[in-house]
Amino acid sequence: MSKPSLWLRCEKKEFERRTALTPATTKKLIDAGFEIFVERDEQRIFVDSEYEAVGCKLVDNSSWPSAPVNIPIIGLKELPESTDPIPHSHIQFAHCYKKQDGWVDILLRFHRGGGTLYDIEFLTDANGRRVAAFGYHAGFAGAAVGALAVASQRSGEKLGHLKSFESEDAMINTVKTALGGSGKGVKVLVIGALGRCGRGAVDLFRKIGLDEDDVLKWDMAETAKGGPFSEILDVDIFVNCIYLSSKTPSFLTRDQLISAGKGRRLSTVVDVSCDTTNPFNPIPIYTINTTFSSPTVPVDVGTENPPLSVISIDHFPSLLPREASEQFSSDLFPSLLQLPDRETAQVWTVAKALFDKKVTEAVKEAKL
Ligand SMILES: NC(=O)c1ccc[n+]([C@@H]2O[C@H](COP(=O)([O-])OP(=O)(O)OC[C@H]3O[C@@H](n4cnc5c(N)ncnc54)[C@H](O)[C@@H]3O)[C@@H](O)[C@H]2O)c1
Repeated sequence: MSKPSLWLRCEKKEFERRTALTPATTKKLIDAGFEIFVERDEQRIFVDSEYEAVGCKLVDNSSWPSAPVNIPIIGLKELPESTDPIPHSHIQFAHCYKKQDGWVDILLRFHRGGGTLYDIEFLTDANGRRVAAFGYHAGFAGAAVGALAVASQRSGEKLGHLKSFESEDAMINTVKTALGGSGKGVKVLVIGALGRCGRGAVDLFRKIGLDEDDVLKWDMAETAKGGPFSEILDVDIFVNCIYLSSKTPSFLTRDQLISAGKGRRLSTVVDVSCDTTNPFNPIPIYTINTTFSSPTVPVDVGTENPPLSVISIDHFPSLLPREASEQFSSDLFPSLLQLPDRETAQVWTVAKALFDKKVTEAVKEAKL
């Protein structure tokens, strides 16, 4: 019987250095009897030789279209736009199940080629919890960028271009240095503090030296009274980490900011949840997602009032590609081990059933 195989493709999105398969996870799969093909990739945080050293077969960059069709292809982000039919199984984030822009075209590529999409966002365990997510490092990195923005404001500057950090320690040291050696004295409020992103944000604030009393941690219990919340005005940084599943009263409004006048302490809002264009966005004070090259957007609070910036980057974990990949890949490992049994293993059958449903919707939408 031939060995179970997996093909790690390269990422094509700018600045994306993360990977779904690290050399450590790859080694565990090889030890379990897998054969792993890895596309050479200079962008990936792990160098090709690390994969070679654990026994992977290196193949050309972007060569997956010519891979044998029975080998599943694993990657993270969306495939480059194309209309080519897809005959393979792909394990990745595709962002096409909630009718996002281009959803029909993406699903029709699989339909025409006979391939299958196993969207990682919808790989769940028996309790319906996602098996692998990047939330912790999104919150961690988002909090760090918020702290860097405060440091920039203190010196009368605007936060400049962000680059990925080699490690969490490097990120922590950079933030501490920017704040003059420690974050002590900075006060923050994290909403959604019990979730993955929220826990990451709280950890970053602890690690840069904030006093525990200065890290306010809110979740469902604290917001049950209904917003807007005046408490947000009395901290330096507000980090939103909630999972928005239904309409919720706004947490913070522009009227509230203007009424607060000069007495407002809040200077930076980090919207990790990034429900920017969602009609139920609980922070309706901004309208765009910010980027690594331009991380902050100012809120119009009137020229006489202290400035306020929003950071709404939707790919924060890319700032910590090594640790984010390690954690994600290790969380994905038990499911990958079950790939040879994907016709019966719950995590894969549920994802396949959802894919089939979405393809049916796409075919209907396209009136094929
Ligand atoms: N910007 C990025 O780079 C990035 C990366 C990963 C995830 N995210 C997003 O971050 C969000 C959170 O993801 P997660 O994995 O941490 O989710 P999660 O389910 O682990 O945690 C969400 C938390 O929010 C709380 N919550 C929900 N509604 C609330 C409310 N009205 N008031 C207070 N607390 C509330 C929940 O109780 C939970 O503790 C998601 O929208 C996700 O898409 C963003």
